[in-house]
Amino acid sequence: MEYDVNKIRSYFPVLKQQVYGKPLVYFDNAASTQKPVQVLLKTGRLYTEFYGNIHRAAHYMADKTTDAFESVRDQVQQFIGAGSREEIIFTKGTTESANLVAASFGEQFISPGSEIIVSEMEHHSNMVPWQLNALKRGAKIVKLPMSRNGELQTSLLSELITSKTRLLAVTHVSNVLGTINPLAQIIDAAHRKNVPVFVDGAQAVQHIPVNVKALDADFYAFSAHKMYGPNGVGVLYGKRKWLEQMPPYQGGGEMISEVTFEKTTFSEIPFKFEAGTPNITGVIALGPAIALLQETGMEHIAAWEHQLLDYCTHQLKELEGLVIYGEASQKSGVISFNIDGIHPFDLGTMLDKTGIAVRTGHHCADPLMSYFNIPGTVRVSFGIYNTTEEIDRFIEALKRVVKMLK
Ligand SMILES: Cc1ncc(COP(=O)(O)O)c(C=O)c1O
Repeated sequence: MEYDVNKIRSYFPVLKQQVYGKPLVYFDNAASTQKPVQVLLKTGRLYTEFYGNIHRAAHYMADKTTDAFESVRDQVQQFIGAGSREEIIFTKGTTESANLVAASFGEQFISPGSEIIVSEMEHHSNMVPWQLNALKRGAKIVKLPMSRNGELQTSLLSELITSKTRLLAVTHVSNVLGTINPLAQIIDAAHRKNVPVFVDGAQAVQHIPVNVKALDADFYAFSAHKMYGPNGVGVLYGKRKWLEQMPPYQGGGEMISEVTFEKTTFSEIPFKFEAGTPNITGVIALGPAIALLQETGMEHIAAWEHQLLDYCTHQLKELEGLVIYGEASQKSGVISFNIDGIHPFDLGTMLDKTGIAVRTGHHCADPLMSYFNIPGTVRVSFGIYNTTEEIDRFIEALKRVVKMLK
């Protein structure tokens, strides 16, 4: 099947935007993606046609909304290959998913002397919740180190995982380096010692095919806003055997079975972990975003974005004084770089004036920045709607900006 990027672009009205009088080139997809008309229309339809609060009421509007909401749970289950719909929990985002597991799994399974392995390339949202948890429970964080090319030193896992290890937290794809970690191998090493694995999939599900069952991941988290869906919605996949043993994360409506003034019994999963009115609109509007990814085909998306990655990397490497961070053998469409003698923020600001949106800074991965001994990088990250022509414009603008700043 041919990848019809023009058709995909036609779904994203914002891409026709002019920025400072120049056509927009949006290369900050790892931070958040733009939204297609399918998502915008779904949001509008919900409010104009059948909005009501879910699960509770016995009226038409609530029933329609509940059906729409719950059908997205089925869609997510199918999208990531989960074993059952009850293993899909809706949250605010990857950050909340990680906090949920840290708090709830932590309460049940982490005690003084426990160890939690966290990789050195994690986003703060898959590091700080574990640190907070370790602090609270007298546990220790153990580092799974990285190499200079941006690959994890997975050969160390056999010594790092001990009888004290209670969980291993790792990202599927690095938001800074683009590294696609060898998840199946990491999970297998952990499982051989009966250690569950929490996977941060925030930079993976929108770029490569993911099947949580085939990977045998215990937990897998991601955010709708990075996959062409709305803000304020995330997913936590958890294996039933863990979720059923974990206590609720928050108390409130919806997560209860019976409440007396003295005591509460809780709902079954997934509702046990979905206290209060969720982001109803957000979840329902995630549906068409997933449908777009599925219609386009995750294999096709991965191939297209890989082509963009190769095309851009090749041209960047020709620029004098340019250093790329992260040259793993398996990469997604993320390139972090610096240019000798130029602050990344200056580069980013000047590129913006040419209509090109890139990210600059530490990308919420300070330990990774410390590893490379740098304050930050410029990061370009591709999405389904980006093109090689946009890369040409970016490279041309970058050359001009570098000349001005040097
Ligand atoms: C790898 C990774 N994990 C987690 C997050 C946090 O996602 P959110 O802010 O949507 O919770 C991000 C966001 O940039 C990310 O790139």
